[in-house]
Amino acid sequence: MAVDNRQSRITAAGNAAKMMIGKTPPHITACAPIKDGVIADFDIASGMLEYFFRSEAGAMMILSRPKVYLSVPHCATSTERRSFIEVAAKAGAKNVMLVPETLAAAIGMKMKIEEPKGKMVVNIGGGTTEASVISFGGAVLTNSIRVGGSAFDRSIANFMRRKYGIIIGEVTAELLKKNIGNVFASEENSSMEVHGSKGGIPVSVTVSGSDLREPLRMQASHIIECIRSAFEKTPPELCSDIRESGIVITGGGACLKGMDKLIEQKTGIRTICAKKPLDSVVMGLATIIDGGDKFGIAERTDR
Ligand SMILES: Nc1ncnc2c1ncn2[C@@H]1O[C@H](COP(=O)(O)OP(=O)(O)O)[C@@H](O)[C@H]1O
Ligand SMILES: [Mg+2]
Repeated sequence: MAVDNRQSRITAAGNAAKMMIGKTPPHITACAPIKDGVIADFDIASGMLEYFFRSEAGAMMILSRPKVYLSVPHCATSTERRSFIEVAAKAGAKNVMLVPETLAAAIGMKMKIEEPKGKMVVNIGGGTTEASVISFGGAVLTNSIRVGGSAFDRSIANFMRRKYGIIIGEVTAELLKKNIGNVFASEENSSMEVHGSKGGIPVSVTVSGSDLREPLRMQASHIIECIRSAFEKTPPELCSDIRESGIVITGGGACLKGMDKLIEQKTGIRTICAKKPLDSVVMGLATIIDGGDKFGIAERTDR
């Protein structure tokens, strides 16, 4: 979100605001209101929801005080849950329903979660990664870590500083990750010109995907560890189900090239990536809203 501080007014949202991060004059604040899985700025976060409610459904919707479905990581603390509920309420929600994120993702990917057969969903978000074992319409267990896509970005920025002495911004780091980053050698190796600063002077260097593999793999190893320890907690019958059904990865972090191959190599279990990793969760929420909550997954909250 980009906010004009002089009038406390939102001037841009979504991608338009993201392009402004690190480039704004003092009277404009451009930031991500939810960062690393937690609310970084309460007012801007609820302003964001309100903005999207208005732009997608019109002012009437806010007046009608909608029921809002929010997906939250399993690992969100009760304080974090409370803040998400308050953010939605401030934006105009009457009731807030919380849906565990990996379950929403599984439903969004049209997985048959009601089957009595264990499945594993790994959701790699911006600030968290969660591996859930799902069976009989619920999450039997979930293992969470506070490592997601942003950690990969930071790892790239650190690497650029160490290797080339160049300081780059978070937006540039993320762009590098998305455009040329990969964690598996067989992925195509393209390169990109990076602009940053060295001793205060603007410079540029060309880096390739293979250059970035080491810092990216360092973060990927945390995700693999998260999956491994989920398996350690999984009862043997479910383990053998998953051996058959494979691991499904989703969330924006699953778009990182070679992530599926690396997980498959390190766990020895067939791993596939969602068709639309960025949309799984929201599609799952849509299914729950449209089709009724067949499995009683959404949790009603009261204020
Ligand atoms: N093509 C891509 N390659 C690598 N990472 C990506 C790609 N697209 C998005 N991401 C990363 O996915 C993360 C956001 O994932 P998302 O599931 O939207 O997060 P959350 O559910 O936590 O809001 C960000 O760190 C972003 O950089
Ligand atoms: Mg996500």
